[in-house]
Amino acid sequence: MSQDPQHPTDPIALRATGITKNFGPVRALKGVELELRAGEVTALMGENGAGKSTLLKILNGDYRPDDGELIIDGRPVVFTDPADARAAGLRVIAQEPEIIAAVSVAENIFVGNLGTVGFNRRALLRRTREELKRWGFDRVIRAEALGSSLSPAQRQIVEIMRAVVSRPRIICFDEPTSSLGDDEVGLLFALIRQLQTEGIAIAYVSHRMAEIFRLADRITVLRDGAFVGTKRVDETSHEELVRMMVGRDLSQFFHRDPAPLGDTVLELRGVGNQFVDGIDLTVRAGEVVGIAGLVGAGRSELMKTIAGDYTVTSGEIVISGQARRIRQPADSIRAGIGFAPEERKAEALLLQRSVRDNAALVVLKSVSRWIFVDNRAERALAQEYVTRLRIRTPSTEQLVGNLSGGNQQKVVLARWLATKPKLLLLDEPTRGIDVGAKSEIYAIIDELAHQGVAVVVVSSELPEVLGVSDRIYVMAGGRIAGELPRADATEERILALAMDDEVLA
Ligand SMILES: Nc1ncnc2c1ncn2[C@@H]1O[C@H](COP(=O)(O)OP(=O)(O)OP(=O)(O)O)[C@@H](O)[C@H]1O
Ligand SMILES: [Mg+2]
Repeated sequence: MSQDPQHPTDPIALRATGITKNFGPVRALKGVELELRAGEVTALMGENGAGKSTLLKILNGDYRPDDGELIIDGRPVVFTDPADARAAGLRVIAQEPEIIAAVSVAENIFVGNLGTVGFNRRALLRRTREELKRWGFDRVIRAEALGSSLSPAQRQIVEIMRAVVSRPRIICFDEPTSSLGDDEVGLLFALIRQLQTEGIAIAYVSHRMAEIFRLADRITVLRDGAFVGTKRVDETSHEELVRMMVGRDLSQFFHRDPAPLGDTVLELRGVGNQFVDGIDLTVRAGEVVGIAGLVGAGRSELMKTIAGDYTVTSGEIVISGQARRIRQPADSIRAGIGFAPEERKAEALLLQRSVRDNAALVVLKSVSRWIFVDNRAERALAQEYVTRLRIRTPSTEQLVGNLSGGNQQKVVLARWLATKPKLLLLDEPTRGIDVGAKSEIYAIIDELAHQGVAVVVVSSELPEVLGVSDRIYVMAGGRIAGELPRADATEERILALAMDDEVLA
């Protein structure tokens, strides 16, 4: 299928055919097909471990395919490293950006690209400001800010800017919104629209159906490393895509069945520190309490305070009727608190250990000691959750660092779900997790509640908070802006509280 390289109107910017990649016994990609067209967004979907990131790494020249061909503008290309991909006008925006801590945003953006601006610092800053403005990010990031000061969302924006400043013809995004808040997602979507009008071909990996239907022109689905098909967005549906990804219809949508409530397990009385202020909150045994709010509302900080990562400077934490001093994570573990943090990779995984070890260990971060729970029953339970959450790994002996991003998330969750603590804190439990495993996680949360576990779920996805919670606290500006019982909670009421902490306070 040869294209005329002289023909500038050729709509197919990139074609990948028969792409195959093995990692030892793991067949990550088997004969995958992908077409990216100028001015179009092609979404890439599939369960965790389906091969999406591996395909993008091949496009980026990080990996050589074992078989198959890449064709750009009708010409076969072979990439031996990312520099080759860049020279061909192709940029891949990584799932986990690498940011140099000691230099500015400007230097981080133009690293490896200084040829286009020279080494004059003033010129570099000026150019960076122009670029930030051109793409609408000047409101959320400063050219002079140090790499080390950047939030996860800002790091992601730096990574995106690195790609667009080189004016590539093809850009691939790997789950770009997983660390962004709603406002930043809006800016990213505007940027993608702008790229489209400039005729750039875009690949976009995401697990969020709503994003896909908003952005994509076409959707390519992978399953277990195999190519399932490509659909135009106006010719497919949510249900059809799920069937293509999972290979079956998902049984009816998750339905939470509230459990009988027991004693109060967690009570916060006026808890405050540098991040949160005057927090009053209770969670009873068998109860699932949701915490909603915008990015920066203090939700993760509150979880980390309860878990002992941050110190309480006013008020008290009462666990099962007893005031507890929680000064470090070990204290909260001793008090029966389990905590799956938002940044699971950085905070909760031993990448060089096996899936089995990671699923079975309880981490005492502050004392940098690792306690392996050597309890056969608990290990068996961890293994059971590995199966239930469909963690895609050749065996439980595989190193966690070799798993796909979403499967790493599932390992941390499996550990905490299997531990059955008295109180379980889950921060964004389904971020980056595929649609099939999501409903399984909701079902496990429901089961744990029925076994008498008190559960707190922080989530930015409103349908998720509304779906799993018996009661919802809404945070704004480090405080509780309001509390809604399940029966009164709607997306509108949550948002009204999240945006103004004086509405009902
Ligand atoms: N370096 C590696 N060594 C061994 N196996 C690997 C390696 N990289 C990826 N794999 C395996 O290849 C498969 C595909 O992984 P990939 O990261 O492409 O999945 P993904 O579709 O991006 O998933 P997610 O949605 O979780 O990000 C997985 O089974 C993964 O464990
Ligand atoms: Mg991935």
